[in-house]
Amino acid sequence: QIRPDAYFGKGVIGRFREAAAAGGVELLIVDAALTPIQQRNLEKALDLKVIDRTALILEIFGERAQTREGSLQVELAHLTYQRSRLVRSWTHLERQRGGAGFLGGPGETQIELDRRIIDEKITKIKKALEKIRQTRGLQRTARKRVPVVALVGYTNTGKSTLFNRLTRAGVFAENLLFATLDTTMRRLTLPSGREVILSDTVGFISDLPHELVMAFRATLEEVLEADVVVQVLDAANPGCKQQRRDVLTVLAGLGLDKIEHQPNYLEVYNKIDLAPSFAAPSANAVKASALTGEGCKELLRKLDDVLAAGSA
Ligand code: GTP
Repeated sequence: QIRPDAYFGKGVIGRFREAAAAGGVELLIVDAALTPIQQRNLEKALDLKVIDRTALILEIFGERAQTREGSLQVELAHLTYQRSRLVRSWTHLERQRGGAGFLGGPGETQIELDRRIIDEKITKIKKALEKIRQTRGLQRTARKRVPVVALVGYTNTGKSTLFNRLTRAGVFAENLLFATLDTTMRRLTLPSGREVILSDTVGFISDLPHELVMAFRATLEEVLEADVVVQVLDAANPGCKQQRRDVLTVLAGLGLDKIEHQPNYLEVYNKIDLAPSFAAPSANAVKASALTGEGCKELLRKLDDVLAAGSA
């Protein structure tokens, strides 16, 4: 049962306290959205730093953001998160500011002031992002004749490694969650000689907090514009099926409803070197290993077929 005051009940908190004392624990991460009050009460009860799911994802995104757009998106998500916490968590600190300053008239409370400062920052960032988006729209029109193939997939399924294997572009691939924050694009020549642009996208996760979905929309816009969507799956992961469903749900939410039944959708069951007996479940699926290169030629041929069928 979820408690409004500290999320967990007294018994569970007691067990956490014992475990923390025994194991030198410094941080508690709760895989749920905590209210500011729950977070504060847990921190007090456990004498530990406590963060929730959204804060963890923001931390990871923040570390991984590389381009200006990526950093702006993370900052925007962070500010939105902070703003929502401000409203509820600081009520105990509420105090009146005197009427002396230029900012805020007499009687403006500290919270209102902080909220206004955050709002101003948010507006600035949104404007900057809009500018970047417009520039990208222009770039997109310019290269409209070259079809775009987007790699999507759950985090850590091997998208960046496959992207590298296919394009030899040397994109940052590491055994880290969310190693790719920004869409990365490279030109690629298929066996038929047809040129495509391959686009690597940010890793999906289930239950992405809503405010993050909005903030990262620009990253996923490329997927909406793509001519072919390729979902990369980790054949060696027991949660593969569920991850496939989660990704399809997010894509549907973005407007790509029932994409799995479209002719311009393919699946790559990657890491087949770790699961040699894996059987690909459908005709539009390719088994591959981005690590050994197995199946990559077949994938390129399939891409050719899909594009040839589309332009016929
Ligand atoms: P995000 O950026 O988090 O979305 O991850 P990603 O999907 O881009 O995964 P990435 O390419 O960073 O690969 C994740 C891990 O899987 C790395 O340690 C890769 O070396 C490993 N990996 C990728 N493809 C294969 C493969 O075919 N076989 C094996 N054994 N490992 C692989």
